[in-house]
Amino acid sequence: MSLMADPPGADRLSVRVRRGTSAWHEAAQRSGFLDALAAGRLPWEAYADLTAQHWFIYEALESAATTMADDPVVATFLFPELRRLPSLEADLRFLYGPAWSDHTAALPATTVYCTRLRDVAFRAATGFVAHQYTRYIGDLSGGQYLGPAIARSYGLDGDGHRFFVFAGVDPTSFKAHYRALLDAVPWSHAEQNEFITEVAEAYRLNIDMLGELQRRWS
Ligand code: HEM
Repeated sequence: MSLMADPPGADRLSVRVRRGTSAWHEAAQRSGFLDALAAGRLPWEAYADLTAQHWFIYEALESAATTMADDPVVATFLFPELRRLPSLEADLRFLYGPAWSDHTAALPATTVYCTRLRDVAFRAATGFVAHQYTRYIGDLSGGQYLGPAIARSYGLDGDGHRFFVFAGVDPTSFKAHYRALLDAVPWSHAEQNEFITEVAEAYRLNIDMLGELQRRWS
């Protein structure tokens, strides 16, 4: 065995996707907008705008889950307990009032993101799971630090940041379960690569959206 051999389990999909997209994750972390919100350096409207952009993304993603529910792979990745749309609507109602939908509009980058979601996540399990993984596993990771920081910075106490709170979900054990599911998906090597490529694309779409929010609000 070579001293340079990959560690055991390196061919697992959960390890391949993390390793294959870590540079994209670093770029997402560097985008600045989320840090500025966490530090309270932007007006509250900037946070409300992020919430609005999330609404458009999760509306597309959670519709894809319904449309794709009969796909045998997607069927193993349906988690009603993760659904964010009801929480996002409660947050938007709190932030903008009952006529919240009059105040929300998708940014150009969000429209591009949703178009991509509609192209790939309604068509193939690789596309659906790629977008699901990037958003929800991100929400259950960095989101669990960002949520409380944003709440502190904008004086939110329960209402207005429900998006970050996954009632009844333990992030650590959920992520372990999700990674085990990823490792068990019966995808060919080509399908695994398609999934990893789409995760990179999903990071890029998030980075573009965060960049646009940053330019609008700073
Ligand atoms: C300031 C911004 C961010 C911070 C501080 C952050 C922080 C983190 C941390 C600490 C982890 C590791 C958690 C663990 O190993 O269990 C993680 C993982 C992850 N994050 Fe982020 N993140 C940020 C932005 C983002 C963005 C914008 C996305 C995409 C929308 C994202 C998606 C992910 C995903 C998919 C993982 C799981 C990677 C894996 O499989 O291990 N993150 N994040």
